[in-house]
Amino acid sequence: MKCFAKIAVGIFAIAFTGILVSCSKNSGKSGEEKTEAREDIRQTGTKESKWWREVNAYEIYVKSFKDSDGDGMGDINGITEELDYLSSLGVGAIWLTPVYSSPQVDNGYDIADYYNIDENYGTMEDMERLIAEAGKRDIRIVMDLVFNHTSRENQWFVESASGKDNDKSDWYIWRDARPDGSAPTNWRSIFGGSAWTWNEERGQYYLHTFLPEQPDLNWENPKVRQALFDVANFWVDKGVGGFRMDAVTYIKKPSEFQNGEPDADDGMTGVHKMTANTEGILDFLGEFRENVCTGKDIFTVGEANGVPASQLPQWVGEKGVFDMIFEFTHVNVSLPDESNWCVTKDWELTDLKKCFTDTQNSTKDGGWCPVFLENHDMPRSIDHYLPDCTDPGMGGKALGTILLTLRGTPFIYQGEELGYRNVRWPSIDDYDDISTINHYKFVKDLGYSEEECMEAVYTFSRDNARTPMQWTPEKNAGFTSGKPWLPVSDNYKSCNALTESEDKGSVLSWYRKLAELKKEHRELIDGDYEELLSENEQIYAYIRDNGEKKSIVLVNLSGENADYDTSLVEGLYLSISSYGDESQKGSLKPYESVIYSG
Ligand code: GLC
Repeated sequence: MKCFAKIAVGIFAIAFTGILVSCSKNSGKSGEEKTEAREDIRQTGTKESKWWREVNAYEIYVKSFKDSDGDGMGDINGITEELDYLSSLGVGAIWLTPVYSSPQVDNGYDIADYYNIDENYGTMEDMERLIAEAGKRDIRIVMDLVFNHTSRENQWFVESASGKDNDKSDWYIWRDARPDGSAPTNWRSIFGGSAWTWNEERGQYYLHTFLPEQPDLNWENPKVRQALFDVANFWVDKGVGGFRMDAVTYIKKPSEFQNGEPDADDGMTGVHKMTANTEGILDFLGEFRENVCTGKDIFTVGEANGVPASQLPQWVGEKGVFDMIFEFTHVNVSLPDESNWCVTKDWELTDLKKCFTDTQNSTKDGGWCPVFLENHDMPRSIDHYLPDCTDPGMGGKALGTILLTLRGTPFIYQGEELGYRNVRWPSIDDYDDISTINHYKFVKDLGYSEEECMEAVYTFSRDNARTPMQWTPEKNAGFTSGKPWLPVSDNYKSCNALTESEDKGSVLSWYRKLAELKKEHRELIDGDYEELLSENEQIYAYIRDNGEKKSIVLVNLSGENADYDTSLVEGLYLSISSYGDESQKGSLKPYESVIYSG
């Protein structure tokens, strides 16, 4: 199927580790009953209700969501203003990207003080109000815990760097230079360049998996672990509903640091290969669970690239260290080897379907997973998974159907529900994201042409996901009354929340219909998953069956009609079709989604 058999100039195959922590809540009950149930859980310490399995989650990239004070950047009060919008999507958990004090070198993933709110985003009072207002709508706030590293401006690092003899001297990972003065190992950081930076004051190198401004913490030190658990508990006490744990597979380093086999002409090796998922990491994470999560009404989800399927039982589920982990095989279906970003890779729909099915099967016995197609590090899903799409509106609905009906907690990424697209800005100078800029330079140095490098940027830049949220067809898409920190995408006049709310045929209206449908069809929440038509290169089809009811989801991911045998849906009725009354049993129109139930 040509629409799929394409791509990819794969830049930014960044090995993102992610974990979100989960809490408990009951759905299918009245608001009052739910609150009572939650209170019960808090008191008894059980996690039985697993409320996070019943809701849609929504990721907010705070800087780009809604600006309430005209400084051009989104903020906490802007989120509070839009809670009803989120409710209309069936949202019960909001993952906020980091709002703590930060010099913002990596837009908040470089934290200077975990106990304070960054002044660009508001105050602690604003945060408390958001938690309370969200709670009134049965929405829990999920904080991003960036515990692999801090900012270089964090007082912990400032003290640690001040010499070899201070209380925090081993809170970070310090090593002497090699005899010739070079870095201790040849590891390349995830954002490019050496993973080691020389610190003049201390006279040693420190390790950073990401930017030099993001020094890695030393989890081997029990005082560091305790300080991090204290941070998490501070936020639990504020009433948050859980945590997404950033880059968590990197927290444990190998006992000996050795050079890796060079994987590119720079003579370096990606740090991911050398440190991700190092043996012993589960002890640290188990300790985290015990000290922060056990007996609490919260949930966790980890950004966990590099965890093989065989280890999933230790990572998620009843005995796992987390409630869910973000698993990236489907994301990487179009990405070539991490170190060779400008090499294209062909893939078919069956490759993508296999990734989804593998993830679904790996958690089918008691486990659970987040379902996601986008986040703040990834390109927009229409461009990523439907690169030749001839009808983006229908394509957005097709992908939305998959997102909301696979088994697991759907994580909608802001704008995905409006059918957002990637952006194409003329020059690398127009881009803000530090990882985009570094990777552009990296591939340029490897000898790729300007055109090839910019194509890679268009395909994979994290800025694709970070353009401001489009609320109205007015100036700056209603995002800010000031100058937006990143340009608003050109399509905002038609692609915005207000216009789409008024259009029954919009991507947004489709998401809302699906959220409503799931209230009637619990099998789409708790039913088992079984793939159908697995060899089909146009249709993704699966059954959701909870023993009482079943639904069959059929999504045509191609731009041509796709036929299937009507016996597949024999005895079932059509619950919903993205083509409404035009839908025909046995044949799907381009990008059509249907759900048959019975
Ligand atoms: C995670 C975040 C990403 C960030 C990185 C470093 O992968 O999702 O945005 O840049 O960690 O903290």
